[in-house]
Amino acid sequence: MSTPAPLQGVVPALRFDSLPPLSLYVHLPWCVRKCPYCDFNSYEARGALPDLEYVAALLRDLRGELPFAQGRAIETIFLGGGTPSLFSGTAIARLLDGLRADASIAPNAEITLEANPGAVDAARFAAFREAGVNRLSIGIQSFRDDKLRALGRVHSSAQTEAAVATARAAGFANVNLDVMYGLPGDDVGGAVADLERAVALAPEHISWYHLTLEPNTAFERRPPPLPDDDVVASIEEQGRALLAAHGYERYEISAYARRGRRCLHNVNYWQFGDYLGVGAGAHGKVTLLEAGEIARRAKTRNPRTYLQRAGRADATGEERVTTCAQAALELLMNALRLLDGTTVETFEARAGQPAAAIAAARAVAAARGWLGAEPDRLRATPAGLQRLNRLLELFA
Ligand SMILES: C[S@@+](CC[C@H](N)C(=O)[O-])C[C@H]1O[C@@H](n2cnc3c(N)ncnc32)[C@H](O)[C@@H]1O
Ligand code: SF4
Repeated sequence: MSTPAPLQGVVPALRFDSLPPLSLYVHLPWCVRKCPYCDFNSYEARGALPDLEYVAALLRDLRGELPFAQGRAIETIFLGGGTPSLFSGTAIARLLDGLRADASIAPNAEITLEANPGAVDAARFAAFREAGVNRLSIGIQSFRDDKLRALGRVHSSAQTEAAVATARAAGFANVNLDVMYGLPGDDVGGAVADLERAVALAPEHISWYHLTLEPNTAFERRPPPLPDDDVVASIEEQGRALLAAHGYERYEISAYARRGRRCLHNVNYWQFGDYLGVGAGAHGKVTLLEAGEIARRAKTRNPRTYLQRAGRADATGEERVTTCAQAALELLMNALRLLDGTTVETFEARAGQPAAAIAAARAVAAARGWLGAEPDRLRATPAGLQRLNRLLELFA
């Protein structure tokens, strides 16, 4: 398979002179239990996981995606879910060996695996590390056991502490903890205490998410009592101050890192880099140099259907971004989440158009105080970050 060539005589609206960096997202869709707030493409595992069969499907899928790499090495890999830590060490090793055999992977590639503290085992973590995983992202959410129960989690705070110790003992020097706030019945003291306990475990990175009620979840159907806006604002103010005081720099709306420990995979998404997506429901985004288009590719969501179809054309849907307005908006939806935003140079290269195309909207956003006035950078001000959707509407 080769990437599509441009139509004869049609001048593309977008123009790319180079390709951005390339990442790979791998989706592993099973969990012990479905959490009531979660709208990820994840399914309760019933019986033994078909993990080796699924890995074979992922590798078939990858082979179909490789032409879209267009000669680039993969710089970051993210094994997300679902709960990838439910997969055996053998399955993850076979997956990473297969990826290295078929694709070009950069020698120092960041390779992250998501883990749930309720699905941790020392030998398995050691096998993940041995297989080449060099970053662990552990979904701890809270240290309050009553809150963990309200969130339908399968683990306790004691298991969280054990999971981090197990990760360190297995040799993981780069660990992220996912923590959520604005939980059912949440209060400022409790939410900040959660962060204090997370910080005490000395992770390299903390993702601190505001719990949202997502469509088609149990929480949307039966909403729990959530704290009001001023409680959430106080949690955010105190929590951000605490993280800063402990050396965690906020670099994206919900992401905080120690120096040199930003998540390179997510930064590539936010900088509108390219990524291949393999696995049930996985999404990919690739710049097509010659066609002057951006392809958005999505795999069939149901794991059973995916197992049958992976690697075949009927496993994948594709849409093309072909207009300047759409490409500019999609880039800004990502890049303005970063506290540093992005450079005008990156905008022009990756949205395939001159910055002049967004000059009018940029001037309006700057006049409202939502976008900085720097000539060579697109960056939301604190006020712009607070109302990101309204800021983005100016570019729609
Ligand atoms: C795929 S999960 C991480 C791994 C594992 N599945 C787990 O939950 O422990 C990604 C993270 O997204 C966050 N998340 C999921 N649903 C959310 C929601 N409705 N609001 C805010 N954060 C959410 C959680 O912090 C979760 O850890
Ligand atoms: S464990 Fe993670 S992916 Fe699975 S249902 Fe819960 S939040 Fe979603």
